[in-house]
Amino acid sequence: MHRILSSFILYCFLTFSVNIHPAISAVNSINSAYDSSPFKHMYEFDGSGGSSLMGSETVPESKDIVYLPEFNLSARLYRPIDIAANQKLPLLFYIHGGAFIIGSPFDEGNHNFLNILVSEANVVAVSIQYRLAGVCPLPCAYNDSWTALKWVASHLNGDGPEDWLNQHADFQRVFVSGDSAGANIAHQMAIKLATEEIHEGFSVAGMILCHPFFWGSELLHGETQSWSDLIAIFWGQISPNSSGIDDPWLNPSRDPNLARVGFPRLQVFVSEKDSAQLRERGWYYAQKLRESGWSGYQEVTDFQGEDHDFHMSNLTSRNSTILRNSIVTFINQEWSDTSVGMKPSRDLSNSPFYDMILMIGRRVLRTD
Ligand SMILES: *[C@@H]1O[C@H](CO)[C@@H](O)[C@H](O)[C@H]1NC(C)=O
Ligand SMILES: *[C@@H]1O[C@H](CO)[C@@H](O)[C@H](O)[C@H]1NC(C)=O
Ligand SMILES: *[C@@H]1O[C@H](CO)[C@@H](O)[C@H](O)[C@H]1NC(C)=O
Ligand SMILES: *[C@@H]1O[C@H](CO)[C@@H](O)[C@H](O)[C@H]1NC(C)=O
Ligand SMILES: *[C@@H]1O[C@H](CO)[C@@H](O)[C@H](O)[C@H]1NC(C)=O
Repeated sequence: MHRILSSFILYCFLTFSVNIHPAISAVNSINSAYDSSPFKHMYEFDGSGGSSLMGSETVPESKDIVYLPEFNLSARLYRPIDIAANQKLPLLFYIHGGAFIIGSPFDEGNHNFLNILVSEANVVAVSIQYRLAGVCPLPCAYNDSWTALKWVASHLNGDGPEDWLNQHADFQRVFVSGDSAGANIAHQMAIKLATEEIHEGFSVAGMILCHPFFWGSELLHGETQSWSDLIAIFWGQISPNSSGIDDPWLNPSRDPNLARVGFPRLQVFVSEKDSAQLRERGWYYAQKLRESGWSGYQEVTDFQGEDHDFHMSNLTSRNSTILRNSIVTFINQEWSDTSVGMKPSRDLSNSPFYDMILMIGRRVLRTD
């Protein structure tokens, strides 16, 4: 009984954002907020009332394709509506959250977020389905996601099964992202990139983690033992064969391969009032990554007054807009070199937009 109750509580905290479908009204409130000049699609939503995002001509095209027939697993693909034939755009590989136990790319919340992000960032996106832990415990979600990433990589030479990816995906600019449990899976993709085979020549340019679900037995600032106990029980249920809450799957600082993660740039978002107590874990991840010897670029943005996955529950709020703007900047940044450890060619701190991020963030970390 206790176990069920515990899981239910964690379920509520970690997954509420998946169930709250953002009311996409008043998108025009975005219009006046910030200078949009660097971003092609930033403020083109017409804001004409409740269905503005759905009805806007800037809403991307999307379609579902099965990438793993064995388990009937699909991915939802997105591309901007005004894309030209054979035009190459950055590719965003997106992994949804939901505490490993709920959610799918087809949920309204995830779909609306991807719609707006694809349009703003002007990217092609692949939002993947994976087997949830109730159907198959970890590592199934990791393995499925890896299968999906390999499927994406199979388009690198322009002769994969999916035409949108053959035509439009710029494989020099692949970004992997996820929220909450999806961010945990995204990190595992980076570990697999270092330790397993994928298509020759395939690389990931950057990793974008929103409120990543990591944990560990050692409590960080603001974390409570009672919550940690709940997570331990929950983790035991969804991951019965792992070694517990310090397993590298949940506590990346214990992963001997951490320094080898397969991406040169990291962007992390956390929230001050994260009710799942995941705020410090995002900071800790960035810190441990630096300490491991990994020498890439990183930034962490901490949103004051906001909760877990706030950016999914209200797409039009000021802070959600700032979060997405900063993803757009991260993806479309002109980097001086795609190799690991290089500095960005442009100093982000000179951008007026970035100053806003600094004001909001408790601290912004960077390695030069
Ligand atoms: C496969 O999954 C889709 C949703 O992703 C569902 O609509 C369909 O019924 C499933 N097919 C089978 C054979 O289970
Ligand atoms: C866990 O381990 C048992 C025994 O080795 C195995 O039968 C089972 O398939 C494993 N479960 C998962 C999810 O890997
Ligand atoms: C997951 O993948 C690993 C190799 O990456 C494999 O050893 C393991 O058996 C797989 N587990 C499942 C449940 O598919
Ligand atoms: C949003 O960001 C501002 C800083 O610009 C902050 O003061 C505020 O508390 C944040 N959160 C909410 C819920 O508005
Ligand atoms: C979303 O945020 C906007 C701007 O802060 C606010 O006006 C609106 O009421 C919010 N919507 C919901 C559903 O909370």
